[in-house]
Amino acid sequence: MRTQVAIIGAGPSGLLLSQLLHLAGIDCVVLEQRSGDYVLSRIRAGVLEQGMVDMIDRAGVGARMHKEGLLHDGFTMAVGDTRLRMDLKGLTGSSVMVYGQTEVTRDLMDAHAARDAKVIYEAEAVTPLDFDTDHPRVTYVKDGVTHEIACDFICGCDGFHGVCRKSVPEGAITEFEKVYPVGWLGILSHVRPVSHELIYANHDRGFALASMRSHTLSRYYIQVPLDSPVEAWSDEAIWDELKIRLGEEAAASMETGPSIEKSIAPLRSFVVEPLRFGRMMLAGDAGHIVPPTGAKGLNLAASDIHYLSTGLIEYYADKSAAGIDAYSQKALARIWKAERFSWWMTMLLHKFPDLGAFNAKMQQADMDYLASSTAAQTSLAENYVGLPF
Ligand code: FAD
Ligand code: DHB
Repeated sequence: MRTQVAIIGAGPSGLLLSQLLHLAGIDCVVLEQRSGDYVLSRIRAGVLEQGMVDMIDRAGVGARMHKEGLLHDGFTMAVGDTRLRMDLKGLTGSSVMVYGQTEVTRDLMDAHAARDAKVIYEAEAVTPLDFDTDHPRVTYVKDGVTHEIACDFICGCDGFHGVCRKSVPEGAITEFEKVYPVGWLGILSHVRPVSHELIYANHDRGFALASMRSHTLSRYYIQVPLDSPVEAWSDEAIWDELKIRLGEEAAASMETGPSIEKSIAPLRSFVVEPLRFGRMMLAGDAGHIVPPTGAKGLNLAASDIHYLSTGLIEYYADKSAAGIDAYSQKALARIWKAERFSWWMTMLLHKFPDLGAFNAKMQQADMDYLASSTAAQTSLAENYVGLPF
């Protein structure tokens, strides 16, 4: 088989890229190691920046998001004794859209199915080859048969554990990493959200977040020790902990119910440089990870896809390599700013085991400064709603 762009990974990065390239008349094949149902079963991000919303519209898959998504103009932060509403709309003129990653992926999958796009699920042993030449190719195994795709470019949209980054020779890539000594335990439940906006809390017992997917579906997180197995947490224990950490007002109105999903995610900051290796480019979690505190992971994947799709479209339409030549540098400039913001929000909002008295004072001082300074709030808000592409 031959295609113009072979995309590895059918998460939000891969499907968004494939959809945008298709609309520009560029032929792609998407290879995904899992089944479509498995991809949809992974509950992850929930907050979309306006820039990502615009891209979803450009990809022609925004109708359900605008109908079912919830526009949020602000959120609340509670650190120690200080409780503060961040007026995102008032401070920046922008809002965020609460609409789950699962739903974004489902809308993209439906658009691919409707046009009978080439998305190959359950592709095994996917291997990017010869990307340091002008004739890259990808091999994979499907139903026991080995296939080969010849292409112009390979896009590694295969997440943190994917094969593309690992295929790059060691000397050609630099990794930057920070691992945090805590995890997030997430719970999804068919109950009404405790508040109409998100609440991020840093309590003596650790971080908690009240989020949602709709008016009847809530998503909550609590900070847990890294070695805490998910089985150790009954639903009741999680609700009890949420009531303590989110405070009396929230506890009084919190609806509880059985969890329909429960999982623990580690917290990590990770970036590789560069993001392009000859004719292979990395995008999304394949090239970088942020701790989830600033709600940036999915949005950063979208901004990568913006730069990458623009570069590839320019390559085919104008016969110019300028866009793909600039891809790594442009994407990384925005990635590092989101890394900084996510790291800062994480340091502000968690109780780390080795925090120490000085750093605890810094958290409170940071929060007091935020409470007293419109400039500080504007800085937080402009990062939360998303820096320009
Ligand atoms: P992914 O969604 O990881 O998609 C990559 C795809 O590639 C997957 O479908 C995978 O199966 C496939 N793949 C992997 N290896 C191969 C291979 N060898 N061959 C073929 N296909 C392959 N962000 C937030 O903003 N808020 C959150 O609350 C949040 N929670 C998260 C929880 C978890 C457990 C994780 C892992 C991430 C979370 N994120 C969160 C981050 C956010 O979900 C990611 O940034 C986003 O999924 C990135 O999209 P992606 O398409 O780049 O990668
Ligand atoms: C959600 C996740 C986040 O990491 C965040 O900062 C806000 C919301 C969520 O899953 O709803």
